[in-house]
Amino acid sequence: APWQATVLTLYPEMFPGPLGVSLSGDALDRGAWALTARNIRGHGLGRHRSVDDTPAGGGAGMVLRCDVLAAAIDAASGPGDPRPRLLMSPRGRPLTQERVRALAAGPGLVVVCGRFEGVDERVIAGRGLEEVSIGDYVLSGGEIAAMVLIDACVRLLPGVMGKEASGVEESFENGRLEYPHYTRPRDWEGRAIPEVLTGGNHAAIARWRADEALRLTRERRPDLLDRA
Ligand code: ADE
Repeated sequence: APWQATVLTLYPEMFPGPLGVSLSGDALDRGAWALTARNIRGHGLGRHRSVDDTPAGGGAGMVLRCDVLAAAIDAASGPGDPRPRLLMSPRGRPLTQERVRALAAGPGLVVVCGRFEGVDERVIAGRGLEEVSIGDYVLSGGEIAAMVLIDACVRLLPGVMGKEASGVEESFENGRLEYPHYTRPRDWEGRAIPEVLTGGNHAAIARWRADEALRLTRERRPDLLDRA
């Protein structure tokens, strides 16, 4: 069975969206992974298929009901499902390339997309949801965050990234930002390709790239160097 992503959302029509084109879309068409988007509203209550209600204790906005979301989760993922259950939320643990690697190596994901002001806290513990954030900013819902997470995983699946090795030479995989890239023409608008790159000395090229990667990382992301 290929790597399987199940997304629970109030807006299933947003999927596959950008995941349906380019690298991830081609891999989807080839069956290298599978995507199911399920509508939480399918488990809504009453004639209006209601999924949310006003917050206990008062305040603005609406809260996704625990009983509705639990029913949606239970219908999508039985007790024998080995996939981790994630809830996209700005309150979550920040996503890292390390976590992406671990998730890509597993059987897939069940991803819940939050909307409204939040999700009833009880369903998070009650269904073992792990909250994941894609960064310190607030999106209007978890759908785009789920797409970010799934895209990052899918490109690491076996056979998805063809020639570009295994993504291992890239930013974050080695704790450094990537060195600068160039291609033809050699001279463009008064800017030449650095001479070392066109000289054929492969040891010198490797040294230059390592130096540039370190320089850029010091300049832009010193936190990455502190971490190592
Ligand atoms: N939903 C809204 N904002 C989010 C964020 N930053 N990360 C993950 N899910 C979110």
